[in-house]
Parts: sequence; C-alpha cells; structure tokens
Amino acid sequence: MEKKKKTVLSGMRPTGSLHLGHLAGALRNWLKLQDQYYCFYTIVTWHALSSEYQNSKVIKEYTYEIALDWLSIGLDPAKSVLFVQSEVKEHAELYLLLSMIIPLPRLQRVPTFKEMQRELPDKDLNTYGFLGYPVLQTADIIIYKAEIVPVGEDQAFHLELAREIVRRFNHLFEPVFPEPQILLTEVPKLAGTDGRKMSKSYGNAILLKDSPDLIRQKIATMTTDTRRKRRNDPGEPEDCPAFTLHKAFGAKEQREELVQGCRTATIGCLDCKNVVIETINRYLTPYWERRKKFEKNPQLVWDILEEGNKKARNVAQKTMEEARTAIGF
Ligand code: TRP
Ligand code: SF4
Repeated sequence: MEKKKKTVLSGMRPTGSLHLGHLAGALRNWLKLQDQYYCFYTIVTWHALSSEYQNSKVIKEYTYEIALDWLSIGLDPAKSVLFVQSEVKEHAELYLLLSMIIPLPRLQRVPTFKEMQRELPDKDLNTYGFLGYPVLQTADIIIYKAEIVPVGEDQAFHLELAREIVRRFNHLFEPVFPEPQILLTEVPKLAGTDGRKMSKSYGNAILLKDSPDLIRQKIATMTTDTRRKRRNDPGEPEDCPAFTLHKAFGAKEQREELVQGCRTATIGCLDCKNVVIETINRYLTPYWERRKKFEKNPQLVWDILEEGNKKARNVAQKTMEEARTAIGF
C-alpha cells in the first residue's frame, strides 16, 4: 500500500522581490520538497500587514512579485498549492479560536516580539496583532494539518509555540491537529554587495530578477578580502564577502581550488568571481525564461494563485468543521 504523502507548509511575507538569500535559504529547499511531499506554500499577507500597516498599499503588488518569483524559480502549481493567506478566511477564524487558549504571558515571552521592536524602531509594533503573529502562523500551519515546516533557525521559537498550542487544543477539546515538526533549513550567511548581510533593506541584494549583466556587474564590484589590495597579495576566503556566494552556490571541489588560488595569490579576484557568476547565471537561466512568459501575461499569475486559494480553502474548511465540532459549536 502506498503511504500517504506527508504535508509540508511554509510561507513568506510579501515584502518585495526575492534575492539570492531567499534562494539559498528557502526556495532551493522548497523545490526539492515539492517532489516528495504534499506542499502548501503561502504568501502571508496578514503577517505583512502586522508590520506594514502604515504602508499597506504595497502588499498586493509585492504579493504578485513573490508569486512571479516563485513560479519562475520552478515552484509548480501542478505539484504544490501556491496561495495567498488572506484569501483563505478560515485562517482568521482558527487564529481567533487559538487566541482564546494561549496565555498572554507565554506570547509576551516569545523573543522575536521584543527583538523585532528593537530592530525596527521606526515602526510601532507594540500592537495586539503583532503580538499575535506566531498564533496566526500556528493557524497557517495546523489548518492544513501540516506535519513538516521547513524554516530557518529564526523561526524555531514560533514552531515551539505552535506545538504547545496544538497540545493545548487537543487536550482541552479533542485531538484534531498533529504537532508540526520543524525541518530546520540551513540558511547560509550570504553577504550583499557591500559586505554586510544580504538584505533588501540595505539595498545590497542580488535579486533573482536581475539580468545576467546586472548580476555580473554586482558580483564583479562586490567587496572582497581587504588584504588583497594588489593581485600579488594573498587573501583569505573565510574573510571575503564574495566568497559567501561560492559557499552557498559553488561546487565543493571547485571551491577548494579557489581557496588555494586565493591564499597563494595565483588567481585574481575577478577570476574567482567569474566562476560563481557563471554558476549563478546558469542556475537562473530557466528562471528568466519562465519569468519572461509570465510577465507577458500577469493575469496568469493571479489565476494560478486563485486556483491555489481554492484548493487551500477546501482543506481549511474541512479542518475548521472538525475544530468547531471539537469545541462543541
Ligand atoms: N514568520 C515566517 C517568516 O517570517 C513567515 C510565515 C508565516 C510562515 N506563516 C508561516 C513560515 C507558516 C512557515 C509556516 O519567515
Ligand atoms: Fe575573495 Fe576570491 Fe578574491 Fe579570495 S580571490 S579575496 S575568495 S574574491
């Protein structure tokens, strides 16, 4: 008998076009998972609103950008359910039910709540909605009874909370939900063009949608180990921002050769960078081809999302019936 495929769920906030960090830290993994599991990938518009409520009009445009990036990189609507969180209202109902059973002090102790407020001091994140962020995330996951949640280390606290909420719900009412497992994705530390962490907000990111020429130019001018002032000065790849790209995308044997070449000054930085430029451009070639097709017909992207929304709704509605019955409604 064929064993039922396990269910995977993950999500991304629509905050703009995706870059190489998203590819290395999440998308590459999502692509592999869609061949093995029943995958739900969601664009979490309500989560975006929890921090971007003063600039809410961009969320729709960013939703389109993310969907376009996802489809172009190869997430396949024939294999995975690609959908928009706020188009499946059942998430909101489950979020409300869960909010009744999660003690307030437990939420206030989630470290990301205070961390994000510290990191984004120009935004007022001391809101009821932002405090509830991980509760909404829990609803996203368990409404599909997802067993596996591929995320980076930064989401571990949220997954722990999700498991606690599930145990509490199942104990107080009836066992409806499985406890979701975190599938910890190794997120390589990727430097941006200026040497700091690659991030949209620093303006140092290499975007998936950048043209081959722009990618070439961005990497060619990227910061390297400062010891290599001249071609004859040896360098240390471990101290080189550009080398983080090799670590994330290059083949191991090739990388070892380059390490030797750098330490002995037998290669120049541009020789070294050209290798990874080629690798990245080769990897992204199918992306650009798919993207061109979708850009000609933006409605197709929205139609694919709507199809995903419908599939997600079907599952979510069934789960909600079970949840209401368990409570006694
Ligand atoms: N909090 C996640 C992030 O910032 C996004 C997210 C929302 C998510 N709901 C989710 C991730 C459910 C995994 C599962 O990256
Ligand atoms: Fe960095 Fe490569 Fe230059 Fe060494 S040779 S400093 S690893 S870019």
